[in-house]
Amino acid sequence: MDKIEITGAARLSGELAPPPDKSISHRAVMLSSLAKGRGVVRNFLRAQDTESTMAAFRTLGIEIEDNGDVLLIHGKGLHGLREANDVIDCGNSGTTMRLLTGILSANPFFSVLTGDSSLRSRPMKRVITPLSMMGALISGRDGNRLAPLAISGRKLNPISYDMPIASAQVKSSVLLASLYTEGITMVKEPVRSRDHTERMLPAFGADLRTDGLTVSVQGGRELYSQEIDVPGDFSSAAFFMVAAIIIPGSEVLLKNVGINPTRTGLISVLQSMGADIRIMNTRSVSGEPVADIVCRGTSGLKAATVAGDMVPSLIDEFPILCIAAARAEGTTMIRGAEELRVKESDRIKAMAKEMIRMGAAVEEHPDGIDITGTDTLSGADVYSHGDHRIAMGHGRGRAFGSRNNDDPRRWRCRHIIPRFLFTHPRIDGMNAVIAIDGPSGAGKSTIARLLARELGYQYLDTGALYRAVALGLLQHGLNEESTDAEIIAALDRTTVSFREGKVFLDRKDVSEDIRSPEASHYASVFSARRAVREFLLDTQREALHHANLVAEGRDMTTVVFPYASWKFYLDASAQERARRRALELRAKGYDIDEEKIRLDILERDARDSGRDIAPLKRADDAMFIDSTGLSVEDVFRHILDVIREGRQ
Ligand code: DC
Repeated sequence: MDKIEITGAARLSGELAPPPDKSISHRAVMLSSLAKGRGVVRNFLRAQDTESTMAAFRTLGIEIEDNGDVLLIHGKGLHGLREANDVIDCGNSGTTMRLLTGILSANPFFSVLTGDSSLRSRPMKRVITPLSMMGALISGRDGNRLAPLAISGRKLNPISYDMPIASAQVKSSVLLASLYTEGITMVKEPVRSRDHTERMLPAFGADLRTDGLTVSVQGGRELYSQEIDVPGDFSSAAFFMVAAIIIPGSEVLLKNVGINPTRTGLISVLQSMGADIRIMNTRSVSGEPVADIVCRGTSGLKAATVAGDMVPSLIDEFPILCIAAARAEGTTMIRGAEELRVKESDRIKAMAKEMIRMGAAVEEHPDGIDITGTDTLSGADVYSHGDHRIAMGHGRGRAFGSRNNDDPRRWRCRHIIPRFLFTHPRIDGMNAVIAIDGPSGAGKSTIARLLARELGYQYLDTGALYRAVALGLLQHGLNEESTDAEIIAALDRTTVSFREGKVFLDRKDVSEDIRSPEASHYASVFSARRAVREFLLDTQREALHHANLVAEGRDMTTVVFPYASWKFYLDASAQERARRRALELRAKGYDIDEEKIRLDILERDARDSGRDIAPLKRADDAMFIDSTGLSVEDVFRHILDVIREGRQ
């Protein structure tokens, strides 16, 4: 994710439409599945969590046609679900698990819900308690507190429930269960939480009323399918909002953003801190308020106090609010946010710990945090705690000028982060990178070149940079035996650059010379030296400041661009790679023995993968492609499909 390492002088300018709202996407699939007739969902969020919801309903017998732009959901009515013949995996999605628990408690069959290790450690008692009051039979680990949950569905009774804490998931779970009861269920919250479920249910025909903090549902009414247009996600827009307001001179237009008042507490807080945020063109889309938002960067933000009713409406924006607070004058106090301790991570602790690493003045409280603003945050190794919002919060933090090399393994949540944050080229200063690693001859450079041409990105051939450096060091009389000091001294007198597909060594175009077998050998030898790798690190990252990149090499996915939008690892058998290299070299006029090339490739593989520093290895989150027996066209098309469909 290097592209959000924005240096001090950078400004953000441009416009973007955030990705579709996650909460509304989940609910659109759920209600359409429980409704009669064919439902249409446009602008559905493609993300791991929402896909968990789709997969769950498919397992429960609902046909969902996905034709790219829209989902067509063939709902079978409230009583149309059928028993799943396996455990239902909710992945990382608390919404999927908690809302489904409500629905399945009222469906007369057996269900088991599980999720990843993070979801399995999140509290489920809060939904089990009210559902049990309705008569549900749910058991789980740790005294019915944790998933996996086993649910024996049966007829439920209406209840009147005073929620001890405000939680949209608990409220929604009870409201969905109440659809199946005879009578009126009432749910009262201490403060208002998100109301997407309440807004959507009446549109489907449910008999639902809201009176202050109480929502009541008359059960037993069928739902009927609707067309839903999912608005843009406020929480995703929030990252850009804060990035724009804390970088003076920035101006960002965020389009088609959902501004449901239960979600937009952050705007009020930022405005009270003096931020220049304007809401324009407000309209209603599928029952939800939507607007365009202009955010301008100013200096002189002032601290704020956030507590009480405000908190639920910015619960997801807590990490990014912390970042804004760290840039404001004075001490921002956030209280009444104990709910944050049981999110994907303990967000209070996680933010406090990581912000201290970055040099912020922070004090943790049981139900909140104090943050005293400072002019500069420094770079540090930050941990995402497996939580995408923490990762993105720090991403903005790093925009203050951190240029450190975070360990990618600590950013395990990358796949859950909305992809647009990494890829949206319309925000200046945030370019996308497609990173490809693999051994020599795996086809990386051919594929990278084709992708770059197709997408209008720049191709960054990092092997060429290592080759050019190797030539430079050879010219200075260095070899395998040279000491680090000698290498550093020679590098001091060397310049390597990359322009319009050509590589320059001390301003001389060496694009042809670097392809010799000798340059290949020494590129592999010298690239194992720390000084050489450090010498090239900035050159490679620097390229991303100028263009969207397809970067190809040995450590693109692991070291240079660990936060790349897309990561691929290309491989092929040694035999095949030797054949390809031999063809290539013969075409260039070298007299080549294929077996010698194969042995040479094996030797280079061993050296590139065996070295201590930045060894060639497959990143956990890189897509593996074995190109043995595949044509260039096959591999290219496959990768292009993955990119275009936003998969990986
Ligand atoms: O991709 P290539 O064959 O042109 O690379 C030449 C050598 O440079 C290769 O043996 C390993 C090294 N290299 C590297 O260590 N890291 C990179 N990112 C790219 C290449």
